[in-house]
Amino acid sequence: MKPRIYITRKLDERAVAPLLEKFDVRMWDSESVSVPRDILIKEVAEADALWTVLADSVNREVFEAGTKLKIVANMAVGYNNVDLEAAMEYGVIVTNTPGVLNETTADLAFALLLATARQLISAEDAIRSGNWTSWAPMRFTGMDVGGATIGIIGMGRIGEAVARRAKGFDMRVLYHNRNRKTEAEVEHGFEFMELEALLKEADFVVILTPYTPETVGMIGARELKLMKNTAVLINVARGGIVDESALYDALKDGEIWAAGLDVFETEPVPLDNLLLTLPNVTVLPHIGSASIKTRLAMMNLNAQAITDLLEGRDPENQVF
Ligand code: GLV
Repeated sequence: MKPRIYITRKLDERAVAPLLEKFDVRMWDSESVSVPRDILIKEVAEADALWTVLADSVNREVFEAGTKLKIVANMAVGYNNVDLEAAMEYGVIVTNTPGVLNETTADLAFALLLATARQLISAEDAIRSGNWTSWAPMRFTGMDVGGATIGIIGMGRIGEAVARRAKGFDMRVLYHNRNRKTEAEVEHGFEFMELEALLKEADFVVILTPYTPETVGMIGARELKLMKNTAVLINVARGGIVDESALYDALKDGEIWAAGLDVFETEPVPLDNLLLTLPNVTVLPHIGSASIKTRLAMMNLNAQAITDLLEGRDPENQVF
């Protein structure tokens, strides 16, 4: 009997084809609707390997049900959706897909920064809704990006890729990170700062830190108050790093100027989320790594990790 793989999303054929010869592959049949919990639990009970995405909650219940389960390959760089303690307890390996998505995610962070700073989405909407009445001196005026100061919270591989882009826009680059990046400081002139100082100095604050118990609610009312009232906050990491209700108040009261969000505390973002009522918020549906090349590369990493494990090799990108 071939080992069984369960995949929680309908995937591009190119990603699945190499697995079909060697393994018994079962796959949920929708790309954009999550597999119902009862089906996931039933499938995982028969699976040797589980291919998940960041929207799947891979909690203790999943590990308990997966009596044959040997690997969870999570198609994302973040793995906050996986209960690592339970994985260790049940002896299941967990892998992620780092490295291949750095530049793509940095592109999106910068695109969102530019779109928010220059109100691109509202401006486009004015045309589509028939509200472009005439050229207007101060309508859709925004914040200059070129020459401004960017503060990056979380200077990992994606953070550094954003910082390099910022340099191309003649920006001063501040960063806050657990470890100093002395090489990058010398080579590129990036400046390390404590969080408070960064929040006070930056015109653009970009969040790129992993979502861990230490970073939950890291940006709350106090932090938002420290920011300039002309500042723009960009979050492309995880929604829970920012306290959304504090962010709503800060944006409504003009404590900061705007926010660009690719991530939310609850995803998909509920339509009654108050942030959606504000004109100075640009929202995207968690698409940081969404280029064709990068998503295929992430799928390849996942397929390779599962193949390696099921064929007795040690997979790369194990998270513990
Ligand atoms: C996306 O958010 C990822 O973690 O890959």
